[in-house]
Amino acid sequence: MKSCNKLFILSLVVLAFSVIHVEAQPKKFPGKMKRPPMVTQAIAVLHPTAGNNVHGVVKFIQTPKGVRVIADVEGLTPGKHGFHIHEFGDCSSPDGKSAGGHFNPTNQPHGSPDAPKHHMGDLGNLEADANGKAHLDRVYPFLRLMGPMGIIGRGVIIHSGEDDLKSQPTGNAGKRVACGVIGIAKGQSPKMMK
Ligand code: CU
Ligand code: ZN
Repeated sequence: MKSCNKLFILSLVVLAFSVIHVEAQPKKFPGKMKRPPMVTQAIAVLHPTAGNNVHGVVKFIQTPKGVRVIADVEGLTPGKHGFHIHEFGDCSSPDGKSAGGHFNPTNQPHGSPDAPKHHMGDLGNLEADANGKAHLDRVYPFLRLMGPMGIIGRGVIIHSGEDDLKSQPTGNAGKRVACGVIGIAKGQSPKMMK
């Protein structure tokens, strides 16, 4: 009889703890969370692939009209260089090929970002001056930072040559000279959207 009582008390204690545990869970998320946290700024730091000296920073800012992309890159040869978002945020291979192909979740052909059809990762070209520096600042209406087709976590690749904006599947832009991963920018604490 005694051991039976002990068992009963033990079960009550276990039950009480599990109830407390279950009830404690929702309290970690105060208020009504109807949407996931929003991030409006992202950044990719570009590092050179093996044998190159191309480096830079690309900032991504979500605006109502799309994503504003601000790129500052140096160490390039003068002229145009293919500039794309690739499928994977993986710059681990010395040639940058670990980043995969162009980010293309909608299964489109390669093209100009201004054409009706193009990969979602087709950002056109960067144009380097005589000192090998390139600056770009433009809005891409089709890009999104977050959501099912969001670019955070994907890769940014700069190529050795010009993207001709028509050759399949990559625009014949040559080797990959720099690679970076798109991450959440500093100061972007998660905010609950109402
Ligand atoms: Cu590319
Ligand atoms: Zn493409």
